[in-house]
Amino acid sequence: MFLTLQSLMTLEIVLKLFLQEFNGLGIVLENRYYGASYPFNTSTTDNLRFFTTEQVIADTAHFAQNVILPGHNATLQAPKSLWILIGGSVPGGQVAFAVKEYGNIFWAGLASSGLTKGVLGYPEWYDPIQKFAPQDCTASLNGIIDKIDTVFANGNANQIHHMKSIFGLETLHDNGDFAQTIAYPLGNPFLYITPTWQEINWDPAVGSSEFFSFCHNVTNPNSPKNITALDYALAPYTDNEPWPNLGNYANYIKKYLIPTCGDVPVNNSACFLQHNQSYWADTTNSLRRSYLYTMCTEMGTYTAAHQDKPSLVSRVLKPEYTQQWCTWAFPPGKHNKIPSTPDLERYNVYGGSNMSAPRLAFVGGEQDVFRDVGFFAVDQGERYSLTVEDAYLHPQMLIESGGHRWDFEALNTGNVWEKDKEPQFIREVHLWELRVVARWIGQWEEREGRGSKRDEL
Ligand SMILES: *[C@@H]1O[C@H](CO)[C@@H](O)[C@H](O)[C@H]1NC(C)=O
Ligand SMILES: *[C@@H]1O[C@H](CO)[C@@H](O)[C@H](O)[C@H]1NC(C)=O
Ligand SMILES: *[C@@H]1O[C@H](CO)[C@@H](O)[C@H](O)[C@H]1NC(C)=O
Ligand SMILES: *[C@@H]1O[C@H](CO)[C@@H](O)[C@H](O)[C@H]1NC(C)=O
Ligand SMILES: *[C@@H]1O[C@H](CO)[C@@H](O)[C@H](O)[C@H]1NC(C)=O
Ligand SMILES: *[C@@H]1O[C@H](CO)[C@@H](O)[C@H](O)[C@H]1NC(C)=O
Ligand SMILES: *[C@@H]1O[C@H](CO)[C@@H](O)[C@H](O)[C@H]1NC(C)=O
Repeated sequence: MFLTLQSLMTLEIVLKLFLQEFNGLGIVLENRYYGASYPFNTSTTDNLRFFTTEQVIADTAHFAQNVILPGHNATLQAPKSLWILIGGSVPGGQVAFAVKEYGNIFWAGLASSGLTKGVLGYPEWYDPIQKFAPQDCTASLNGIIDKIDTVFANGNANQIHHMKSIFGLETLHDNGDFAQTIAYPLGNPFLYITPTWQEINWDPAVGSSEFFSFCHNVTNPNSPKNITALDYALAPYTDNEPWPNLGNYANYIKKYLIPTCGDVPVNNSACFLQHNQSYWADTTNSLRRSYLYTMCTEMGTYTAAHQDKPSLVSRVLKPEYTQQWCTWAFPPGKHNKIPSTPDLERYNVYGGSNMSAPRLAFVGGEQDVFRDVGFFAVDQGERYSLTVEDAYLHPQMLIESGGHRWDFEALNTGNVWEKDKEPQFIREVHLWELRVVARWIGQWEEREGRGSKRDEL
């Protein structure tokens, strides 16, 4: 039995490989407070009181122990039968937590790019971009951001207005809103409406390489004079130093980002104006509101600028910017109130980025924006299996040059895995995953006293 945890009902293609290879049964379980699984019609602070990671993973255990599947009886329930959990991103973290907490119910689990650690501010989100993106692009952006922050720090209203108008955003009075808007093409993982670094994928049919188009624009050496002239427009505010590639950056925002709003003006909350209490206070059920609640209450991971290093986004984007949304979105109710900053202990109780459990497999991406809140966090040092026993009991694989959940895509047409069409670095991850699952099945059968029926792949 393969149980995929999901925020929303979508099928991870890798699940199909497992079902095909092992003739298993697959179930996709949607999290409470998402999609069709809301217990209430609105998401007021009170109605959200049953929405905790602890409860979400308890749902999983309850489901596996009690479900009666059509055409089957109770013998398929966990732990009478072999159940393997699968999940990526936030559900990847939940898989890891559930295997650790309910190891007597679930035999094993595969967590891909799992967010297992909560932090308040998360400037490391931008680190893979800073490190792996074309350096003429990142250096241009670092320089422009330094100058933008100088103008903000100077506090001259006319200069700030002029600077915003270069991007066509002078009607955004809140500096955070302006900073957040020009960060969209880079990645603004909470409110993103356009593809970012996170959406790059090895399979072009699934992902988007718009990030690279953005960089091509920023670094375009052939831009017309009327665009490159803008590099000098703000020089009087920065000791007459020009702002290299400002014209290119601003042109991309005006030509490709602002038009995504259609007829809505940029200074409307349906477009880029976020500094609006009643907008956040809207209690309509939504994916975004549920995710924000998890961040505000226990996970944090507020994307923010590096304050003391080169930054790709303005340093006005501090954790306080996101915390303001939490405070506006979830005013105290009668039965529930959110903490003044996320109660990270509730999320980190399972062990954070150094958590482990028997037969819990971790897959990560070298260039994943969420790498630093998971098992392969850079601050954990090098990770590798020291013995075969360790590689079997604590399977782990970091995908070279991989991004967020890259193993969950596969080339599968009909019910056939097109192994030979996958790039080698992904095919080898899938082959490894099939070996890992085969071993788990073998170990289960051995424990059941039936002996291993399956040759190792
Ligand atoms: C949700 O709204 C529907 C229709 O307005 C109503 O019948 C139902 O009782 C409500 N459910 C809850 C849990 O409030
Ligand atoms: C469940 O079904 C299997 C065969 O499908 C049968 O052997 C078994 O006795 C059933 N168990 C129960 C508890 O009904
Ligand atoms: C700028 O970005 C747009 C939108 O993605 C793209 O169509 C265009 O080719 C890019 N321009 C350059 C010079 O790369
Ligand atoms: C630059 O000039 C071209 C034509 O000469 C015009 O189409 C374009 O809109 C101008 N761009 C800007 C940013 O003014
Ligand atoms: C938005 O900007 C326009 C000017 O472009 C202005 O007339 C309007 O009042 C602004 N709306 C808000 C809500 O600030
Ligand atoms: C602020 O949010 C409210 C509620 O969503 C909305 O009606 C209003 O138009 C928003 N204000 C602006 C300036 O967009
Ligand atoms: C991670 O956990 C292992 C095993 O519990 C321990 O040996 C190691 O020191 C920990 N690493 C860090 C960085 O805390």
